[in-house]
Order: sequence, then C-alpha cells, then structure tokens
Amino acid sequence: MPNLTTQLGPLPLTTPFLAASGTFGYGSEYAPIVDLSKVGAVVTKSLSVKPREGNPTPRIWETSSGMLNAIGLENCGLESFIDHRVPDLANLPTKVLVNVVGDSIDDYAVICSALDKVEAVDGFEINISCPNVKHGCRFASDPGDCERLMKALKPTTNKLLMVKLSPNVTDIAEIARAAVEGGAQALSLINTLLGMAIDVKTRAPRIANVTGGLSGPGIRPVAVRCVWQAARACPQTPIVGIGGIRTLGDALEFFIAGACAVQIGTTNYLDPDLLNRLPGELDRWLAAEKLEALAPLVGSLKA
Ligand SMILES: Cc1cc2nc3c(=O)[nH]c(=O)nc-3n(C[C@H](O)[C@H](O)[C@H](O)COP(=O)(O)O)c2cc1C
Repeated sequence: MPNLTTQLGPLPLTTPFLAASGTFGYGSEYAPIVDLSKVGAVVTKSLSVKPREGNPTPRIWETSSGMLNAIGLENCGLESFIDHRVPDLANLPTKVLVNVVGDSIDDYAVICSALDKVEAVDGFEINISCPNVKHGCRFASDPGDCERLMKALKPTTNKLLMVKLSPNVTDIAEIARAAVEGGAQALSLINTLLGMAIDVKTRAPRIANVTGGLSGPGIRPVAVRCVWQAARACPQTPIVGIGGIRTLGDALEFFIAGACAVQIGTTNYLDPDLLNRLPGELDRWLAAEKLEALAPLVGSLKA
C-alpha cells in the first residue's frame, strides 16, 4: 500500500487531506457525517482574542463556479474557545490546527502563547489573508510586516507554525520567502480572492459588505499557480494547497505543483464525503502509477 503520510514542520499527518478554516466549524459539527480519522487535520474557524460578531447579512452569494463570502471572522474569542471548544477538540480522532487572526502582532502572540500549552491543539495556521475585514491583509501584503509577525510568533510556541497567504498580492513568492525567513515552518495558500457581485435590478451589492472572498472551483487555477510560485521560492518548506478542490484530480494538480498536503473548503458544503473518499482514491492512484508514497509526486511538474 502506498504511504500517504506527510509532514508539516514538526507535525506528521496520516493523510494529506485537511479541512479548511471556516468551512468545517470546529470539526465536531461534521462528526456525524465525516469519519474524522480519515482527515489529515481539521483547521478551525479563525480565532481572535476578543469575540467578533462578523459582518452584517447577507454574507454569502453563490457564483457560477463557487461562492462569495464576507462572514467577517465571526468567532467566540479566545476565552470561550478554551472553555467550550477545546474539550470537544481534544476528543477528535485527528490533528487540530487553530487558525489565528489578529489586528496586531500582540493579538496573534497572545493566542499562540495561550494555546501552546493546550494539548488538544497540534499547531497554528496564522491567517494574515482575510479579505473581508479592515486591515485583514496587512501582514500578507508587506513582506517586512509578514517577517516581523513570524519572528514575533516563533518564540511563543513549539507547535507547528504555518502561515496562510493571500492571492491578493502582486508577488506571492516574495511574501512566501519573507514568512519562511521569519520562522514559518509551513505555508498554506490560498485564502479567498477579493470579489464582488451586483443585483442589477436594485443595483445593490449581493452581500452587505459590498466585497467578499471568492472561493470554489473557479479559483483553482489561481491557487495552483500560487502554490507553484511559493514552492519554487521556498523549496525546503512544506506547502499546503487550498482552492477549489472538488476531485482527486484537482488535488493531484496541487501535489504536482509542489504541495505536500491540501485543504478542502467550499466543497465541504456540497460533498462532505469527499474528505473520506480522497485517501482511498489517492492510494489507488499512486499504486496504479507504481509510486510507493506521496512524496515523489510532490513538485514533480514537468516544465
Ligand atoms: C464561508 C467561508 C468562510 C471562511 N472562513 C475562513 C476563516 O475564518 N479563516 C480562514 O483563514 N479562511 C476562511 N475561509 C477560506 C477557506 O479556508 C479557503 O482558504 C478558501 O475558501 C479557498 O478554498 P476553497 O475554494 O476550497 O473553499 C472561508 C471560506 C468560506 C467559503
């Protein structure tokens, strides 16, 4: 049987298929319909120090090849997360990565320091790339700011420190290099693309925030390109590909472009079973290709 294990910095995963932040709650919500032991890791909804109410509704709009969302990082805040979410997370039969957001370096540091001691948490995905809140992309668009943030977070934790990059930048390779220079042990990409839709009858935006983040199959080519550029810029750093994955074939594109794991996001809303089918499908595909493990496929683009 081919070996599907993969490694993100200090963290080994039994499968390379993860559930993306904001599309999978805190994992336990999906437990009745998804066998979580077949999921490489669950990435939780973004967590901030203080609770956040999120943006006014409507917050989502379906597009022809995906969806726009402007949830605005609604979440319960650190204290409530520790009291009410961590006990459930501790019982999940998979790894848990906490997605962290903040308005300042201190915000991020407070969360990483507090959760570094929590056994149920296996690592952090530092979200510097939310397009739906004010200043949501500051650390993702300035290489100096990005490096400073990572340098400040590195001493706060011994767990996996992964940073989630934005496609809404001119040169993603430059940001990827800065993140790794600052101490990021893995990179995940991409977050949503900034988009907008209008009701032409009323001439009003479809979502109250006016702009939102585009996700789903329509963004996949952009995401594959970003992964390829980041992998070339940081050849020693594990990359987690995200964006519009609906089938094994979609995931294979990311592996060949240089990702050693992928996250499934929007597809969880229509086909939550995909996360359970993918390991078996990859296993059979690798065997048919006479590959004994995922590793030789990663970054095998012939260009
Ligand atoms: C409704 C919704 C909420 C999301 N919330 C978050 C979030 O809280 N934090 C985050 O880092 N990404 C969030 N994302 C982005 C996804 O994690 C993912 O990066 C993006 O949707 C692209 O992947 P996909 O095309 O497979 O959905 C959200 C996406 C959607 C659709």
